[in-house]
Amino acid sequence: MKAENGNKRETRFFRVSEENFDDILDKAAEIIKRGGTVAFPTETVYGLGADGLDPDAVRKIFKAKERPPGNPLSLLVHSREDLGKVAKNVPEKAFRLMDAFWPGPLTIVLEKSDIVPEITSGNLPSIGLRMPDHRIPLELVKRAGTPLAAPSANLSGKPSPSLAAHVLADLAGRIDVIIDGGGTTIGLESTVIDMTVEPPVVLRLGAVGIDELENVIGKVRPTYMGAEAKDGEAISEKQAGQKYSHYTPDTQVVLVEGERKNVSEKIGTLLENYLLEGKKVGLLLSNETAGFFASEGLSAHGCFLLGPREEPEEAARKLFEGLRTLDAKSLDVILADGSFNPSGLGAALLNRLREAASIRHAV
Ligand code: TXA
Ligand code: MG
Repeated sequence: MKAENGNKRETRFFRVSEENFDDILDKAAEIIKRGGTVAFPTETVYGLGADGLDPDAVRKIFKAKERPPGNPLSLLVHSREDLGKVAKNVPEKAFRLMDAFWPGPLTIVLEKSDIVPEITSGNLPSIGLRMPDHRIPLELVKRAGTPLAAPSANLSGKPSPSLAAHVLADLAGRIDVIIDGGGTTIGLESTVIDMTVEPPVVLRLGAVGIDELENVIGKVRPTYMGAEAKDGEAISEKQAGQKYSHYTPDTQVVLVEGERKNVSEKIGTLLENYLLEGKKVGLLLSNETAGFFASEGLSAHGCFLLGPREEPEEAARKLFEGLRTLDAKSLDVILADGSFNPSGLGAALLNRLREAASIRHAV
């Protein structure tokens, strides 16, 4: 397979099973040791891994993803010993977070040690670390004997991949190996918390929520879009979006949030208006809102169902697939349903919907 931008590599695709697990992991570890790039599932999204301590290997990640230089990568670790090599002056609260949430969907930003190259940390004095709750990356880190720099395995500007097919679509011909281990169970990227400041700052919301963090380490300061500051003031979009680029589809996304009944009606009105204007409209809906449209006899040019409102876990798992599917249909607008239960993974789901949307209606 060939790709533009001088990324010309043959990408090997392995579907992992109980029988071939050892063999594939050994091959992949060998490629990492030789400075190559391997994509694999984690419990959050697919990652694109390379030896995080080898600047040439890390450079290949930036090139394959077309990731802007300076955007820091995080490292996947396998043990506390790995951690001791790449981080220093680790605060006691960070250890409490590791006890509570590792292995799992929490990236902890700590002071980096000198062996972490500047290209990996985006020239920052800190580095994000995560111990994933998935045996493929854990084994890969262990067998390769090095922490893996592992951003999400998508082209910069595309949604994170929740299926191996998404990695193939974005990175075939640009990386050495794709390990297909099935769909990711969470579907949204990890929560990122910066422990180098006090109070600690939550830079991105994932499956580990603010309350869960505060139960373990006390007060934290959320700075992602839609987060409520403690004084009740919403964090401004400018503040939230300053440093971290987020996915926005090529197609304009219009998000409707609010009272559930009002949300269905508002999406219905917007749909009718867009159709009258001759626009091609896609719908990203809960099952309940879709049911409302079926009964009203309204239809659009594409519809992706995210599941029941009360099951934001299912919607989170399907969100990036839904956005990729609709974005591929050459539509003018995607109407997105914000009526999911906002607790648990629902908070991260709504955050990603807000990041993706260029227009937001509260009803
Ligand atoms: O769930 C995940 O975290 C996935 C899987 C593959 O592990 N990875 C992932 O990586 O989403 P990436 O690179 O797409 O997102 C990592 C986030 C970025 O927003 C990055 O800016 C932030 O972590 N980050 C990494 N190191 C940082 C640092 N030293 N200071 C502040 N933010 C940092
Ligand atoms: Mg990413």
